Amino acid sequence: MDHELCLPEQAGDAAQTLFAALREALGAAAVLTGEDIPARNEKDWSTLSALRPLAVLRPTDTEGVAAGMRICAQHGVAVVPQGGLTGLCGGARPVEGAVALSLERMVGVEEIDPASATMTVRAGTPLQTVQQAADEAGFFIPLDLGARGSCAIGGNLSTNAGGNRVIRYGMAREMVLGLEVVLPDGSVVTNLNKMLKNNAGYDLKHLFIGSEGTLGIITRIVLRLFPKPGCTMAAVCAVESYDKLIALLNAARRGLGPLLSAFEVMWPDYWRTVTQRVPGVSNPLAGEHACYVLIEAQGMDEAFDAPRFETWLTRQMEAGVLADAALAQSLADVQAFWGVRDACAEFPQVLGPHESFDIGLPVAAMDQYVSACGAALRSRFANAVALFYGHIGDGNLHIVACVPGASAQPKEEIAGIVYSLVQQFGGTISAEHGIGLTKKAWLPYTRSEPELALMRRLKAALDPQNLLNPGKVV
Ligand code: FAD
Ligand code: LAC
Ligand code: ZN
Repeated sequence: MDHELCLPEQAGDAAQTLFAALREALGAAAVLTGEDIPARNEKDWSTLSALRPLAVLRPTDTEGVAAGMRICAQHGVAVVPQGGLTGLCGGARPVEGAVALSLERMVGVEEIDPASATMTVRAGTPLQTVQQAADEAGFFIPLDLGARGSCAIGGNLSTNAGGNRVIRYGMAREMVLGLEVVLPDGSVVTNLNKMLKNNAGYDLKHLFIGSEGTLGIITRIVLRLFPKPGCTMAAVCAVESYDKLIALLNAARRGLGPLLSAFEVMWPDYWRTVTQRVPGVSNPLAGEHACYVLIEAQGMDEAFDAPRFETWLTRQMEAGVLADAALAQSLADVQAFWGVRDACAEFPQVLGPHESFDIGLPVAAMDQYVSACGAALRSRFANAVALFYGHIGDGNLHIVACVPGASAQPKEEIAGIVYSLVQQFGGTISAEHGIGLTKKAWLPYTRSEPELALMRRLKAALDPQNLLNPGKVV
């Protein structure tokens, strides 16, 4: 792994003074320096190279985060917040000379309040732990993504994560009622609100949700709990044209109503790659089709909702909307169907180095974009691989692209092709993963100058010294 090194003996007097102040305030176990810095804190899931931070802070409570932030601010040292480090655009990757502040020891559910249907949780808690705690209490956390076992709920909110159930429940933002944050000067703002309605002044939590750790560090969260679904139905479908796919989406919205919980689309190159090359993934359908869709519906009463789903599916087949379909007969089938969709997590092993994108587009333009982007990539790089899939019901398309055999991936050129077309089609350069470092140069493709200027004013107002995750997003 290529990284820039900062050994303890090389850290100057100023750094040693900083480390001493941090150790005194937080305890020695919370301050890792030099060779004690774990390799995992040097990068996230983006393709950026590793960079060793000046130190890793691992506070165990809000006071520790506040003290760490305050001391770093006093010493003029930047701080990069880190959650589960599964971010795909370099948001949590250290920057030169900065301290990484990891929330990894701030874990645990503090309270489940059944009357308010809320959970109060510490920001470093892995998403899967949050989901399990809700399940054990008879509730449901709808936020779900492939990185569930590794990502942290604080990271999910800082990126306003999307994931698989946005079509029914919205983005992470919609699932939050209260937040506690530490500001760049080390002050703590606590509003662990549990009420669904609260219009008393500005709704400050939305400043921090989706701002990728540039405005404050999220330390505690009040999440909304939802009723646990009583049954899950799923089908993998094939259609012969994109027009049929749109017809299917509208039929699902109309016919399944609030039960519709996922509408995940995969184009043929993606389908072929995962079913033929990812170990353990089997193909539930035969033949080659224009598009493949995983449709999931969650209901309350299996005896009523499962036949309703099957009848709806049969109707789509009879109406000629579907070319083929496989209906899950068991929870194991549901999981196997999701296995095809989640197999993209294996792309680093299957494809080697590649670039990945999370663009947003008007749903109607999606297929045209796929054709144009695939053609443009292949006309520039004859052997380019371009796989398309995504949360199409939400207008969110993922692209995975690479040039096999290239000594180094032509990242900028690939991004240039992808984003120029996004601009042309009136889309967004990021629907769910955020901007971080890797997409920063492209932000003007999606945001106007007055919008960018307002973002910069907000950043300057909250972080006048530019010490919290500097250089990210804006
Ligand atoms: P990190 O990577 O640690 O950090 C992300 C950003 O948030 C950084 O800018 C960091 O500085 C900041 N941050 C972290 N914690 C805090 C905090 N407590 N306070 C303030 N700032 C903080 N994303 C989706 O949206 N939808 C998907 O479907 C999806 N699927 C994925 C599948 C896989 C296999 C992988 C590897 C990633 C996927 N992602 C997806 C991307 C990623 O998992 C999300 O962005 C996730 O929300 C990041 O959480 P994290 O804890 O790993 O954050
Ligand atoms: C997904 C990630 C990459 O949806 O966002 O698979
Ligand atoms: Zn996604």
